[in-house]
Amino acid sequence: MITHGSEEPAAGRKAALKKGKEAGNSPGLATFRARLLVLRSARAAAAAARPEGGMAGVGGAAFGPSALGTKPHWDAAYERELRFFQDTGDAGEIWFGEESMVRVIRWLEKQKVPHDSPVLDIGTGNGVLLVELAKSGYTNLTGIDYSPSAIKLSEKVREKEGISNIKLQVEDFLAPSADLSGFQICIDKGTFDAISLNPDNAVGKRKQYVRSLRNVLKPEGFFLITSCNWTKEELLEEFREGFEILEELPTPKFCFGGRIGNSVTALVFQRKE
Ligand SMILES: C[S@@+](CC[C@H](N)C(=O)[O-])C[C@H]1O[C@@H](n2cnc3c(N)ncnc32)[C@H](O)[C@@H]1O
Repeated sequence: MITHGSEEPAAGRKAALKKGKEAGNSPGLATFRARLLVLRSARAAAAAARPEGGMAGVGGAAFGPSALGTKPHWDAAYERELRFFQDTGDAGEIWFGEESMVRVIRWLEKQKVPHDSPVLDIGTGNGVLLVELAKSGYTNLTGIDYSPSAIKLSEKVREKEGISNIKLQVEDFLAPSADLSGFQICIDKGTFDAISLNPDNAVGKRKQYVRSLRNVLKPEGFFLITSCNWTKEELLEEFREGFEILEELPTPKFCFGGRIGNSVTALVFQRKE
């Protein structure tokens, strides 16, 4: 189980990851994350420098299209991660670090969200967040990802951890199946970010994401998003139709050009009636 309050990945995982990266096992994920963080830092610094604090390009102009926002990219990345897991037993990248999982779990615990509430992890990747939720007592967990290799990896991780009550399925969140509905909690760590980089009509895809979210989340259900692409103000704009902000969760700060910013935004929204 993760240690609440820990800011660092477990030593074993860190060493295995380092080994894998040095051997070139996971360059795609590392490059993607590094690129997003650079973009995000530059954008946050620019936003902080503007008197209105807003961000140009909310309509989608701020990010260039990238293969990093496409399914072939994630398929290839998770095939590599799957091989890495088979060789080392390591689940691979934890997006935004372990503290991002701690933040989500702590919030659920603070709100006393019942352990049997239906929870959906959108774009679950290796499924480690779901494993941690299961270890924290949550029993009604579903993870979806449009990459079959991500779902294969998350199944292997689930099996290794000896957990049976996590449902995993291949689904494109932009075209979800009709039975994907009725969730009390939806969680997104980096998936809306990835979709925002799609070279083909990213603005339309972001709008579709919001529509899909409205369909799968129950009225008054909670949506927890962690993003390194978007500022709080931008996310408020993106999710203004049908959602209201409940809380901004504290994230690590950085200083750039004498201004303080956050490298990651973590927000909790509630679906309106
Ligand atoms: C940055 S990774 C984050 C993975 C995971 N949430 C985590 O925190 O480790 C983005 C994930 O979103 C998935 N993804 C991107 N677009 C998707 C879509 N339209 N439907 C479902 N999954 C998608 C990718 O396959 C990838 O697993």
